[in-house]
Amino acid sequence: MIERIKQLILPILLGAVFIGGLVIMFSGGDGNSNGEISTANVIIPELSEFGQQGKGLFDANCAACHGENAVGTNVGPPLLHTIYNPGHHADEAFLRAAALGVQAHHWGFGNMPSVPAVDRDDILQIVRYVREMQAANGIAPQPHVM
Ligand code: HEC
Repeated sequence: MIERIKQLILPILLGAVFIGGLVIMFSGGDGNSNGEISTANVIIPELSEFGQQGKGLFDANCAACHGENAVGTNVGPPLLHTIYNPGHHADEAFLRAAALGVQAHHWGFGNMPSVPAVDRDDILQIVRYVREMQAANGIAPQPHVM
C-alpha cells in the first residue's frame, strides 16, 4: 500500500517541481525581474508636441548622463524610475536640478552639475517629455512618504 502511494505521489511531486521551475524561468529569468526599465523593454509613447520638443532638449542636455529614453547610463540614474515619480520628485525638482545641480543622495553616481544651457521653459518641456515617458512605462504618481 505504501509502495502504491509512493508510486502515485512521486510523479506528482516531480511534475510540480518541473512546473515551478518553468514558472520561475519565465517570470524572472529575463533579467528584468527587478522591474528596471532598460533599453530593451522601454515603451516609447506617441509624444505630445510639447513632449516632442522636450525630447529634443533632453537628448541634447540630459541624455549624456540620464540616457537615451531616460533609462540611465553608467554616469547617471534613469529618470524612468519609480523614485522620480511625480509624487516624489515634483516638476520643481527638475527646475532646481538644472538650475543648481544636485548633491548625490539617491545613487552612487556622484553630483549632478547645473545645466545652464536650459532655461525654465526648456525644463518644463523636458519635464513633460519625462512625464509622458514615465506614464507610458507604468511609473504612476505616488504620494511622498518620508
Ligand atoms: C553630468 C551628468 C548629468 C547631466 C548632464 C544631467 N544630470 Fe540629472 N542627475 C545626474 C546625477 C548623477 C543625478 C543623481 C544624483 C543623486 O544621487 O541623487 C541626477 C539627478 C537628477 C534629478 C533628481 C533630482 C533630485 O532632486 O533628486 C533630476 C530631476 C535630474 N537629474 C534632471 C536632469 C535634467 C532635466 C537634465 C538635463 C537638463 C540633467 N538632469 C542632466 C547627472 C546628470
